[in-house]
Amino acid sequence: MSIFKINGGVQLRGEVKISGAKNEALKLIAFAVLLKKPVCIRNIPQIVDIERQLEIFKCLGGKVKNIESGIELDARSIEKFDISKSTANKLRASLVYLGPLLSRFSQAVILQPGGCQIGERPIETHIDAFRQLGATITENKEKIILKLDEPKHNKVILCEQSVTATENIAMYAAAQEKEIIIENCATEPEISALLNEMVKSGACISGIGTRTLKILGSKDLNLDSADVIVDRIEAATFAIAFAATGGEGTVTPFPSENLQSFVDVLKKCNVKIEISGNSAKVLKSEDLKPFSISTLPYPGFPTDLQSPMSLLASRAKGVSHIEETMYENRLGYLKELQKMGLNVEFHGLHRADVAGPVHLRSTTIHSLDLRSGITLLIAGLMADGETTIEDAQIIDRGYENIEDKLARLGAKIKRIS
Ligand code: EPZ
Repeated sequence: MSIFKINGGVQLRGEVKISGAKNEALKLIAFAVLLKKPVCIRNIPQIVDIERQLEIFKCLGGKVKNIESGIELDARSIEKFDISKSTANKLRASLVYLGPLLSRFSQAVILQPGGCQIGERPIETHIDAFRQLGATITENKEKIILKLDEPKHNKVILCEQSVTATENIAMYAAAQEKEIIIENCATEPEISALLNEMVKSGACISGIGTRTLKILGSKDLNLDSADVIVDRIEAATFAIAFAATGGEGTVTPFPSENLQSFVDVLKKCNVKIEISGNSAKVLKSEDLKPFSISTLPYPGFPTDLQSPMSLLASRAKGVSHIEETMYENRLGYLKELQKMGLNVEFHGLHRADVAGPVHLRSTTIHSLDLRSGITLLIAGLMADGETTIEDAQIIDRGYENIEDKLARLGAKIKRIS
């Protein structure tokens, strides 16, 4: 357990370099299970969730080597297909081992989902998709066992546009020499990046970036190296941090092509942002305007950016409307911000109105999930006096060297383990 002590009232200034995307890297590690030769993954973020995903890779029998430019994964020695005995219970994203393991071993064993702070997070979408392919599924209270020698059907219609369900089925299909069609796919940029690496490794995929994928896989997938794309959620979060603290700075790289809905809302909120090439400069922004957001699957407003947006709402003159359509408990962080003086009116589990402007007061608060954790950390930078963030290790799950990055921008932040 670690805590952050933050001396607030700081306006962040300077340039911040954004790390590789957690939500692509986690899946590339699972995809490596299917590769016939070692692969080097570059620009992989050094964060807790990645360490846990690599632990599972090693638990299955895979080899992990740190090399100059990243990590080398060698799946040739993998013989196990049961991730329930590993540290999988600490990482929901371990679920994405299901598709590769089932494709390689015709069977896979995963843990029953544990849910998390932001919601139930059932995995029925995944199980239903594999059932559509003909998998037999047996389960007990701890585990789910899937068996499928080869696909009995070639079309899957996802029951919701789930990011990891799309990726699980796509990775299963990548090593099957029978075309599989997946409909109602999610289209997040991290999915397209993963699919492009699958094409580089030998799979034939059409429809990348659309809601229908056609995949003809190969039993001989090979990939020398993969470069993880930049983390658009981290990039956007730092843009918010500059604006919310009344500072100004440059975010590089800033994948604006993957953040359209976010940039549109920033501009409506009167944040001054100048995008040139793959950089974004956030200028000192006064007179912020209230906004309305409703989270949706890509290209809608990203649920992972919903919580930091509440900080801009705290500085806007008027009432902002936040609707979290994706998770049933991803507004919980607002109760922590209420302790700092945020003026919130809840309308059920999915909607809240935030009235500004208010000056947040420092206090002690708890991070719930990694996205609310970073939000509370930035709130501490905004509030005068010392704010203590408990459960700071949750933030380490998704943000690489967060206190160094913020300190370089002028933040006074101390980690106490
Ligand atoms: C992935 O989770 C991400 N995790 C999440 O990021 C992200 O919040 C989520 O996608 C949505 O973008 C990884 O990639 C490892 P889902 P996943 O199945 O695949 C509901 C983070 O902070 N939903 O896409 O588990 C669904 O029921 C993490 O980095 C709809 O309501 O998420 C679930 O409650 C947290 N309608 C939630 O959204 C839809 O059409 C997320 O679903 C699709 C989904």
